[in-house]
Amino acid sequence: MSITRKVAVLVGSLRKGSFNRMTAKVLIALAPPELQLEIVEIGDLPLYNQDHDDAPPPPYVAFREKIKAADAVLFVTPEYNRSVPGVLKNAIDVGSRPYGHSAWDRKPGAVISVSPGAIGGFGANHHLRQSLVFLNVPAMPQPEAYIAGAGALFDKEGSLTNEGTRKFLKNFIAAFAAWTEVHLPR
Ligand SMILES: Cc1cc2nc3c(=O)[nH]c(=O)nc-3n(C[C@H](O)[C@H](O)[C@H](O)COP(=O)(O)O)c2cc1C
Repeated sequence: MSITRKVAVLVGSLRKGSFNRMTAKVLIALAPPELQLEIVEIGDLPLYNQDHDDAPPPPYVAFREKIKAADAVLFVTPEYNRSVPGVLKNAIDVGSRPYGHSAWDRKPGAVISVSPGAIGGFGANHHLRQSLVFLNVPAMPQPEAYIAGAGALFDKEGSLTNEGTRKFLKNFIAAFAAWTEVHLPR
């Protein structure tokens, strides 16, 4: 019998019509039964301040608990100025502290970047991987996922209309299920 793994999905855009959120929802729908994906919201997290390490604000506590309760983490992010949007970097920093109590430690991860541009958020994808190395999150190396031209992939309701992208995302999330099994105890 296969084990169900809980995956915390972090979306790096707060925009209502976000292509990244649309992509995250498609991944939730395409995930195999052994992965249970849930978006963990990051928009209400106060900016990380190390002064709060001893008495953390409730949103920090709730966020850290949600990440700790997950078996794995999936980042779906746009690229802002060739890097990770501040809102996502803030969530990563909040989850990483207090020192020695990081919520991210040893959770298998994957990164997918989505952009209307031609290079699919490659810069953000790899800047994020740099933080994941330090946070001891083994990030799935393949398949790499840089979703370009996102403006032409969804209809007005946010449904994915591109069958090639659907096939790619299905393969990506199946590969992630296999990746989590390599890194999690049975
Ligand atoms: C501050 C800012 C910086 C951006 N920088 C980049 C960038 O470096 N590369 C890129 O491909 N798109 C860039 N964009 C465009 C975003 O890819 C685009 O707004 C995209 O729709 C954001 O993702 P979302 O649809 O999930 O909100 C930038 C957008 C903003 C607001």
